[in-house]
Amino acid sequence: MVAKELEALLSENRRFKPSEEFQSKANATSDAYKESSEDRLGFWAKQSERLTWFEPWTEVLDWKPPFAKWFIDGKLNACYNCVDRHLKTWRRNKAAIIFEGENGDGRVLTYQDLYREVSKFANVLKSLGIKKGDRVTIYLPMIPEAVIAMLACARLGAPHSVIFGGFSAESLKDRINDAQAKVLITSDGSFRKGNVVPLKANADTALLGVNCIEHVVVVKRTENKVQMQEGRDLWYHELMKDAKIVCPAEPMDAEDMLFILYTSGTTGKPKGVVHTTGGYMVGVSTTHDWVFDLKEDDVYWCTADVGWITGHSYIVYGPLANGATVFMYEGTPDYPAKDRFWELIEKYRVTILYTAPTAIRTFMKWGPNYPQERDLTSLRLLGSVGEPINPEAWIWYHKYIGGERCPIVDTWWQTETGMILMTPLPGVTETKPGSCTVPFPGVKMEIIDQAGNPVPKGSGGFIVAREPWPAMLRTVYNDPERYVSTYWSNWEGVYFAGDGAKWDEDGYFWILGRVDDVINVSGHRIGTAEVESALVDNSMVAEAACIGKEHDVKGQAVVCFVTLKEGFKVMDGLDDELKKHVAKKIGALARPEDIFFTAELPKTRSGKIMRRLLRDIAEGRALGDVSTLADASVLDFLKKKYNEEE
Ligand code: WTA
Repeated sequence: MVAKELEALLSENRRFKPSEEFQSKANATSDAYKESSEDRLGFWAKQSERLTWFEPWTEVLDWKPPFAKWFIDGKLNACYNCVDRHLKTWRRNKAAIIFEGENGDGRVLTYQDLYREVSKFANVLKSLGIKKGDRVTIYLPMIPEAVIAMLACARLGAPHSVIFGGFSAESLKDRINDAQAKVLITSDGSFRKGNVVPLKANADTALLGVNCIEHVVVVKRTENKVQMQEGRDLWYHELMKDAKIVCPAEPMDAEDMLFILYTSGTTGKPKGVVHTTGGYMVGVSTTHDWVFDLKEDDVYWCTADVGWITGHSYIVYGPLANGATVFMYEGTPDYPAKDRFWELIEKYRVTILYTAPTAIRTFMKWGPNYPQERDLTSLRLLGSVGEPINPEAWIWYHKYIGGERCPIVDTWWQTETGMILMTPLPGVTETKPGSCTVPFPGVKMEIIDQAGNPVPKGSGGFIVAREPWPAMLRTVYNDPERYVSTYWSNWEGVYFAGDGAKWDEDGYFWILGRVDDVINVSGHRIGTAEVESALVDNSMVAEAACIGKEHDVKGQAVVCFVTLKEGFKVMDGLDDELKKHVAKKIGALARPEDIFFTAELPKTRSGKIMRRLLRDIAEGRALGDVSTLADASVLDFLKKKYNEEE
């Protein structure tokens, strides 16, 4: 986001207070801020009582920067907390998951049903040799089996690594190899806008480059024809037929790994972010309860895919630990028609909706008629996550979806943070459109400048945390050095999130977006280095530099500048070919918006590509500091070329 927009943001002076009625019934009150600031660890100790522990912990926190351990010696099981313990209460027959498929088919799983399916599948995994500590990769559509598979892994203490179904075979291969997973769970396909995405075929391609996988479990979803490799590939429904229902939940140490989730960083190689059990579960259940003000009769819908952290923390672990009814939808918002979300809210009387700014901006583009023709009066709370929400989208969401009565929680957090760190409390905090407001109780965030000094109110800098929080990542899988160097080395002993922000006179945070080489496309993180290495992998490409360009709907779009090898000429259709190449290598989500060909890229004298200048060119701004540029003529050329092609 550029300075002029920031100025516009900070002059945003609309304020929204929760209604008296909402305030009077809210789960969290302003006492939470007071209590947690007086005794932060005592606050988290108290929150840990939300969970069922097999053995109590002895110490809240062991902090040897940058390594934190929470709830020392405590023993628990995440699956037990999400499923088993509810069976002892009336929730036994409560809907845990209400599912609707893209084609309108549906299923409801009560907590009792979920228990049965999860335990059976845990026994299936056991029979395939999975035990505590083994990694399992999950590559599934948004169907209940994805949740069942995750919980079954958690039940056995086998860390799962869920790969978003939009990732390519090659991305899947790299992530399976990095985790050295023993079992892969996938499906014959996934429905997408009336077509079938061949997940199993992708998996087969991925496995050509993998040695660690012993078995592939295949869920039948689309009836798409697939190849089953004798001995390796097994049908989910056949394995489940005879599986036993009783499978004890493994007692896990609070610091035992719950899952690995890969995310893009500033190098070409995605990082396996590691989350553990105790702190993570305390963090996600507390935030889920308070941020979404969860009530027993809510129908809660988070539109993320389980393949992202939002799905892990706020479709699966937080809501189910809290005994929520989770609505789960397989498809996209525009299939079969552009009112699909509103149809579903009307049909299931959804009360809480948690979605992304990119979706909201898309709905704005389609116009208010679609929501207006549906009954959305069941909604009582709205949430936003994944990227900065511009005030215009915020107001639209408030007006057309929330009927001007629903508080909006704009929640800032990351794969690495595991839980929401900055957010309004819906019954307490006065909101300002475009601001994620203040840190959650028990969380401390700061904005510092390059020198590491806190910036005064009214100015901007880098978002950091000095104190650990329960759900924080513990390490990068198999690469503790990368954990230290990526997150804790910019300033000694300080966690750097990679985002820039300002805070205003009231201490409210306004996120400016990533300040590192990560592009946030429709809320999906893509490393510029990943796209660049996909491009140079093409035999014609010599060099590539990618940047994020502002985009009305997606927030940011990937724009690439490419030089070709000697002997290759720019031909018609070459940009499309390279776009396809990137989509094939990484996944459609990384497909570049624009590709520009140039003879040279602007570089520093030491040979580093100056992306900042490319961003200036792509966004049509006056060029920033060019004093370190090796060859200034490159810029004029690029600028001219870019303007011609636009
Ligand atoms: C961005 C998603 C502004 C931010 C949960 C962060 C946001 C990155 C917000 C993490 C928000 C997330 N306002 N920006 N409310 N929420 N972001 O790991 O740049 O997929 O660093 O986690 O998304 O993306 P990730």
